[in-house]
Amino acid sequence: MQLLDGKKLSKKIELQVTDKVKMLKEKCGCTPGLAVILVGQDPASAAYVNMKKKACDRVGFYSITHDMPENISQEAIERTIIGMNNDSSIDGILIQLPLPKHIDTTKLLELVDPAKDVDGFHPFNVGRLVTNLDGFVPCTPLGVMELFKEYDINLKGKNCVVVGASNIVGKPMASLLLNQDATVEICHIFTDDLKKHTLNADIILVGVGVINLITQDMVKDDAIIIDIGVSRTKEGKLVGDVDFENVSKKSSYITPSPGGVGPMTIAMLLSNTLKAAQLNAKEKK
Ligand code: GUN
Repeated sequence: MQLLDGKKLSKKIELQVTDKVKMLKEKCGCTPGLAVILVGQDPASAAYVNMKKKACDRVGFYSITHDMPENISQEAIERTIIGMNNDSSIDGILIQLPLPKHIDTTKLLELVDPAKDVDGFHPFNVGRLVTNLDGFVPCTPLGVMELFKEYDINLKGKNCVVVGASNIVGKPMASLLLNQDATVEICHIFTDDLKKHTLNADIILVGVGVINLITQDMVKDDAIIIDIGVSRTKEGKLVGDVDFENVSKKSSYITPSPGGVGPMTIAMLLSNTLKAAQLNAKEKK
């Protein structure tokens, strides 16, 4: 069994981004800028935004967080997004999800300029991903693809089972795998007999937030396991969706959680924001 070490790879990518930021600054005096919208007091969202901000500082980006109260109006958030779309110091816009129930999330995501959509959630970028065209790709599944690349894992013809069908993770993950010629199944909460599907998988990718959803008896020998879930146990420990201790004995490669996909998500946000800044710099010329 070999660990897919997201912590190590994310550090390597951060150093590459740092170098490219320096080069961009020297070339055109541009500093990549990321603007984040955070609504309400959800501690997990606040913690993620804080980690993203610290990562921006480490690589030399400019970043600004708009902290908004839980009862903020739809119109006020829309005005902020329009301001960011028109602000040339901002290359990337990130709306931390989930948003409160009274907010129309889709409408906000569609308002973000697709050229600043570093989360890849705008339907324009979703369409480009599905049709295998260049665009912005959601950070978590993009981070998984970087891990495959780093460890020379070829996806062509592999049976991949994605567990979870969210717009943020499962669906874009499936598109990326398909674009690399994998055979892809998406399982979800209404899938009958999950084990029947996972037992056939060369690669299982799971991100649903259910502790120990994937157990040893659900995995074939030498499968590759990508754990995208993060949950907190009653004792306060962070764990993934996979029974790591037992499943790791059977797998060829496995991501730990935490320390696997999580750090890669942040590294991909940096790399997407750099890409947006590079494209914007070209346009300003
Ligand atoms: N909430 C959970 N994951 C994400 C993510 O990747 N981006 C944003 N914006 N919100 C999230």
